[in-house]
Amino acid sequence: MLEGPFLSIIVPTYKEAENLPELIRRVEAVCEETVPGYELLVMDDDSQDGTEEVVGQLDRPWLRLVVRKADRGLSAAVMDGFRSARGKVLLVMDADLSHPPEKIPEMLAALEEGADFVLGSRYVQSASTDEAWGVFRWLNSKVATWLARPLTRVKDPMSGFFAFYRSAFEAAPPLNPVGYKIGLEVLVKCDCKSVCEIPIHFSQRRFGESKLSLGEQLRYIQHLRRLFVFKYGNWAHFVQFAVVGFSGTLVNLGILTLLVELGVPLRLAVALAIFTAMLSNFVLNRRFTFSYARTASLWKQLVGFIGASSVGALVNYGVVLVLFHCWPVLEGYPQVAAIGGILCGLVFNFFASRYLVFRKS
Ligand code: GDD
Ligand code: MN
Repeated sequence: MLEGPFLSIIVPTYKEAENLPELIRRVEAVCEETVPGYELLVMDDDSQDGTEEVVGQLDRPWLRLVVRKADRGLSAAVMDGFRSARGKVLLVMDADLSHPPEKIPEMLAALEEGADFVLGSRYVQSASTDEAWGVFRWLNSKVATWLARPLTRVKDPMSGFFAFYRSAFEAAPPLNPVGYKIGLEVLVKCDCKSVCEIPIHFSQRRFGESKLSLGEQLRYIQHLRRLFVFKYGNWAHFVQFAVVGFSGTLVNLGILTLLVELGVPLRLAVALAIFTAMLSNFVLNRRFTFSYARTASLWKQLVGFIGASSVGALVNYGVVLVLFHCWPVLEGYPQVAAIGGILCGLVFNFFASRYLVFRKS
């Protein structure tokens, strides 16, 4: 087999023809001097904006264009790039010159010094972002980073400018990023321990426009949920289950208030509010917490869920009685006993839902 180059630079593109000449020129200027052998893979989603002509005209032996017509999207393009890359080191960067190619040697040096993942970071000392970055984009990025905190302590896990060894990719469990955060996926799944962040100046794109849409941001939440389950297993399911349970309390109180306002008799209103909350919990748990079981029979699951929740209520009640029995002093603080009951009911409901109602098929 032919020996591959040292470095594979993977650049996902969609309508970036105007940016490619400068990107390629700058990559060449940097890599010719410092990298023992490299290739640049332009992973284009059939932009039809002249990308093919631009790459054709530049005609460099280390430049490859892959025009993708199926399974479009940024993540899929980068994953394809990983698979067709032949380099020992895989490096991903954007085409729009937000990521300075001049930082590549520093990134490679960090890998050589023992890091197993290097990223061009906007949030370490002496890094910066373009002034044109609005407050909204900054806040957005900060919130996204904060949500990923339990997965990684890295300062800028949202960065799309990163490098790691192909051997880590080959040893990792299957990657299936949805949305934009491929770097985060690699960080978590390849279990990268020694991460090095290189400060960059993140510049505003000069040509074309960003493809980061609201849809992408929702996909990020989906991606996070997957990574949480990957890293924390049942704990991740449990936290989601508890959040859904909390939302159910709000639904319960909201519906109760509404029905009472509408003049529905109180006892009926209480019962309807409980039932509505159970239904909304069911829908949310089926859609999110236990989304792996989404395709199994809805009615069976619904009946099972209502059954389990009812038994859970009995567990809750039983625990409160037991607490009163063991520590009569608690009768003066029934709320404390109630909290104990609620927690036990929650744990019971969780396990019944996870292993009886929403079984992995
Ligand atoms: N093949 C392919 N398919 N490429 C795509 C697609 C797609 O559907 N969508 C976007 N790209 C390419 C763009 O052409 C660009 O080279 C790169 O992916 C990043 O897209 P931008 O549209 O420039 O994204 P951004 O500037 O909003 O996002 C940047 O910041 C994020 C963090 O805030 C990127 O650096 C992201 O990687 C990063 O996560
Ligand atoms: Mn960009």
